[in-house]
Amino acid sequence: MSFEEMWADLLPIGKDDAGGGYHRFAWTPPELECRAWFLDEARRRGLDVEHDPNGNMVAWWFPESGARDDAVLTGSHLDSVPGGGAFDGPLGVVSAFAAVDLLRKHGTALERPIGIGAFAEEEGARFGVACLGSRLLAGAIDPARARGLTGADGRTFAEVMHNAGLDPEAIGPDDDLLGRIGCYVELHVEQGRALTEPVGVASSIVPHGRWRFEFAGEGNHAGTTRLVDRRDPMLPFAAMVLAAREAAERNGTVATVGKVRVVPGGVNAIASSVTGWLDARGPADDAVRRTVTEVDEAARVAARPHRVSVELAEESYTEIVDFDHTLRDRLAGTLGGAPVLPTGAGHDAGILSSRVPAAMLFVRNPTGVSHAPAEFAEQDDCLAGVEALASVLADLACG
Ligand code: GLV
Ligand code: MN
Ligand code: MN
Ligand code: MN
Repeated sequence: MSFEEMWADLLPIGKDDAGGGYHRFAWTPPELECRAWFLDEARRRGLDVEHDPNGNMVAWWFPESGARDDAVLTGSHLDSVPGGGAFDGPLGVVSAFAAVDLLRKHGTALERPIGIGAFAEEEGARFGVACLGSRLLAGAIDPARARGLTGADGRTFAEVMHNAGLDPEAIGPDDDLLGRIGCYVELHVEQGRALTEPVGVASSIVPHGRWRFEFAGEGNHAGTTRLVDRRDPMLPFAAMVLAAREAAERNGTVATVGKVRVVPGGVNAIASSVTGWLDARGPADDAVRRTVTEVDEAARVAARPHRVSVELAEESYTEIVDFDHTLRDRLAGTLGGAPVLPTGAGHDAGILSSRVPAAMLFVRNPTGVSHAPAEFAEQDDCLAGVEALASVLADLACG
């Protein structure tokens, strides 16, 4: 299967025919179809698939020597955000298979294993915590907390894992697997317009996190309830959204409210509660923290006159990731001095970097659109990415 054939096979899975992008959420039918695709591609190449306890998969190409240690892991994720693009995640997995094909075509003799990983729930679109699979693997989230995470359908992570044939009691750090990994290199579509050459190398990921604001008021009739009698949680929620923009401008960060749940959600009913999710990111921890604190204060001030309560919970936070300098310089050197750039997007590579040297390759994004149906990369750039990944893997696994 060539890059183009693999891409064509994945393209229809979980795609909204009305143009609404991809919906591939962890362990839902489209994501299971992506997993089946992964297993097929591994089988086709005679790669051994390892399933870790956290729903992550690794397809292994072992050297003839039988060596199992100091492996070079590559790959990315197959799940998507709601209404996502085709490239965020799958490009790294498809490119990994294509890079392995290229190395085999050239008769490359490995000294160390190469693994192709597909990490579970990277976007956190189902259970709320981004990079859940790699966080569990790396020990960056308490397994008990992960078991209790609940999706919009009311099912917990533990239930969903159980239904998928996995043991929810077994989730957590896999030191055996991590101990066999020498380094991780993830290829990903760039998600802004910062890369003007076909392929670049990541320097860092900015601090970023997710927070949940819950506004609780009193449900009531939209026509008969006098304004003075209302406890409408929508009003402080609206203030919170505007405050996020203002706080981001003051602190040199970015802040987004992209998801809201209104209960009960009737046109002719005052909401009883509104839950809004805040995503905040910025160049430094203190600027991100200050942004959230200021939004929280503004929400509370706005809530008081309406007798609405406000609760704030942090769902996930990732400190600045400064990718391993030796590894990133080695990648840039192998690629003849590729540009090195930071990113505002989170990745499994950022989480795994706490346990193993990690690095990333970016493929140019001509429009800078991502997490949206219009996300795009030119085919020539994708193929340049495959070549770059193959060179990097050859250097790391054979040198
Ligand atoms: C994940 O892609 C994120 O950066 O939100
Ligand atoms: Mn993403
Ligand atoms: Mn991604
Ligand atoms: Mn991501």
